[in-house]
Amino acid sequence: MGMSALYGEADRGESLATIHAALEAGVTLLDTGDFYGMGHNELLIGEALRSASEAARERALVSVKFGALRTVEGGFTGYDGRPDAVRNFAAYSLQRLGREHIDVYRIARVDPAVPIEETVGAIAELVQAGHVRHIGLSEVGPETIRRAASVAPIADLQIEYSLLSRGIESAILPTVRELGIGVTAYGVLSRGLLSGHFTRDRRLDAGDFRGMSPRFQGGNLHRNLDLVERLRQVAEARGTSVARAAIAWVLSRGEDIVPLVGARTRARLSEALGALEVRLTADDLAAIERAIPAGAASGERYPAAQMAHLDSEH
Ligand SMILES: NC(=O)c1ccc[n+]([C@@H]2O[C@H](COP(=O)([O-])OP(=O)(O)OC[C@H]3O[C@@H](n4cnc5c(N)ncnc54)[C@H](OP(=O)(O)O)[C@@H]3O)[C@@H](O)[C@H]2O)c1
Repeated sequence: MGMSALYGEADRGESLATIHAALEAGVTLLDTGDFYGMGHNELLIGEALRSASEAARERALVSVKFGALRTVEGGFTGYDGRPDAVRNFAAYSLQRLGREHIDVYRIARVDPAVPIEETVGAIAELVQAGHVRHIGLSEVGPETIRRAASVAPIADLQIEYSLLSRGIESAILPTVRELGIGVTAYGVLSRGLLSGHFTRDRRLDAGDFRGMSPRFQGGNLHRNLDLVERLRQVAEARGTSVARAAIAWVLSRGEDIVPLVGARTRARLSEALGALEVRLTADDLAAIERAIPAGAASGERYPAAQMAHLDSEH
């Protein structure tokens, strides 16, 4: 996402080099949305896969979100989950990606005007036709998860989960575990806030999501960065970095949880991959929990208008 939108300027050459480096390092899952830069991100991934080694290209799984409605100016005006729209979005995505199929396909946010059964049913038809391999969900709560799973097998739920966003632990995680659905966790670094590299005086480009995100505003930002400093002490005492500790903590939550990491450069990717070497003991996990207890974050994870679209928060 950050290679095409929402986190400020990205360098195209470095983005391609980062995707290639990730694939060569054994990363297999590339996550995108058709609305990330309005097609830009799918075209970028398509180009990166075409120029990757054949082995890397064959190992790669591409997970695509759809449904967001955009304006010419870049605004978001809602979501469309009608079966005709699902088929239309998928046709354009396949063309932009230059792939025969999409590995995991999901609506980014539930369309309140269309029952989830109809949206998932349309994806299930794409699975039957061979255009999609697996059905996913994004930012939905227990009831919607159960309704979706009654229509067709669901592979995974993509949802925010990190030391600063632990909302899924009470009801959503038990539900997906009961139903045998995996979790693709995003915001593992809380969009950079929990990376150890974000500073109080960082200036953000116009259009950067973080310029509107409650957790990055004024007193909230200061309190959240204080939490990050507490994590830094724990991480450095164990010879690792804040970002690695934050990713390793998500990895420690269970085999069924796959962390997405929004690295945009090879340097950030290399730091993130180092998390695979971090083994957190029970004592380490307790120290991390003391540094950032559940519910410690200041501010909601999205601005109010976007919170309203989160079925997972209702
Ligand atoms: N389903 C959904 O609703 C949803 C929502 C948002 C995102 N996502 C998915 O999740 C993916 C990851 O995005 P995210 O928001 O979760 O990203 P994230 O990993 O929480 O944060 C990424 C940001 O952290 C900074 N960073 C600092 N150190 C880093 C390091 N070592 N490795 C990686 N990043 C580092 C980077 O900023 P600098 O480059 O400036 O250093 C980068 O822009 C997206 O690409 C998207 O596919 C899904």
